[in-house]
Amino acid sequence: MNNSSFIADRKRSHFDLCANEAVEFRSKTTLLEDVELLHDPLVETRLEDIDLGVTVLGRRLNYPVMITAMTGGTNEVGRFNREAAALAARLGLGFGVGSQRIMHLQPETAASFQVRDVAPNLLLFGNLGIAQAREMSSSEVIGLATSIGADALCIHLNAAMEIIQERGDHDFRGSLDAVERLVAESPVEIVVKETGCGFSREAGKRLASVGVRWIDVAGAGGTSWVGVETLRNRALGHLGEAFWDWGVPTAASLCELRGLGLNLIASGGIRNGVEAARALALGARVVGVALPVLRAYVAGGVDGVEAWLRAFCDELRAAVMLCGAKRTADLAPDRIVIGGRLREWIEARGL
Ligand SMILES: Cc1cc2nc3c(=O)[nH]c(=O)nc-3n(C[C@H](O)[C@H](O)[C@H](O)COP(=O)(O)O)c2cc1C
Repeated sequence: MNNSSFIADRKRSHFDLCANEAVEFRSKTTLLEDVELLHDPLVETRLEDIDLGVTVLGRRLNYPVMITAMTGGTNEVGRFNREAAALAARLGLGFGVGSQRIMHLQPETAASFQVRDVAPNLLLFGNLGIAQAREMSSSEVIGLATSIGADALCIHLNAAMEIIQERGDHDFRGSLDAVERLVAESPVEIVVKETGCGFSREAGKRLASVGVRWIDVAGAGGTSWVGVETLRNRALGHLGEAFWDWGVPTAASLCELRGLGLNLIASGGIRNGVEAARALALGARVVGVALPVLRAYVAGGVDGVEAWLRAFCDELRAAVMLCGAKRTADLAPDRIVIGGRLREWIEARGL
């Protein structure tokens, strides 16, 4: 099998495995359960007046929520991108396409990433892995984002999944230099994201030092990409089993990156609006969801996704109100109590 059909085939199997198999972390959680939102018994607001809007890179969202990177490359998943992007635009959420590597190798797949015509005002993120971005010229990388009309390009970091993956990359030397070059040369914002293993403060500082302003923590506790690759590549099963639960939990990742002047997107295992409120109170500007959206789509099409997202946003609105807040920006550390393992993490790391 040549490289591009191998990659297209792998992307299709990722989608199927995520839809049907147990691909989430097994015993590690996001640690968002250790964040207690402080109930305000003397609420003096009207539920309908709670303002969840937020502006991200010049686009106004009705809710601080986005569907993060999943797919692209075939007609079938292209339909998902278009339907989900149009829905996100209608609801006032953000949307990210999956890795555009295949679009670079096979330009004829570009249509499966094109959503601007159905969502002209959508907050839209492009996507490429660091190992590919490092090897390509800046104009080739940036061209992937601009050719789909993206507001930003996510560069994903995924060393853990690559070393489990068949034909995966093992060499990540020069990653920070590549990010620095792209930040300096790109007219669109560069968002650095993980893919489910989260972030340390040290990595956040190195990225901030080269000018990165946005990070999607994609922390541990949700979809395990080591897990997905382990299901695909039984030959490396021993590595996959050992590292299935590897990574910095989503809540801990947010605490690691607080106070560095970065704009944070919280994704990785966020499954309802109350967890979203906790992530926002820990310092995220926006929360991201992937796996539940894919599963709702497979089970009930775009209507299923809409029902799931509406319930999520209703939960978020209720949580904001019951904390005595009027808007998302009011969710701050003074409205939470941190206990359990997350508190231990913060203390152990001196955060
Ligand atoms: C089917 C699927 C495909 C994904 N593909 C990509 C990708 O191409 N690029 C990327 O940066 N992240 C990718 N991700 C990771 C998600 O964007 C997200 O960071 C991660 O799954 C954690 O969120 P979750 O627990 O809500 O799924 C993918 C996730 C899923 C479920």
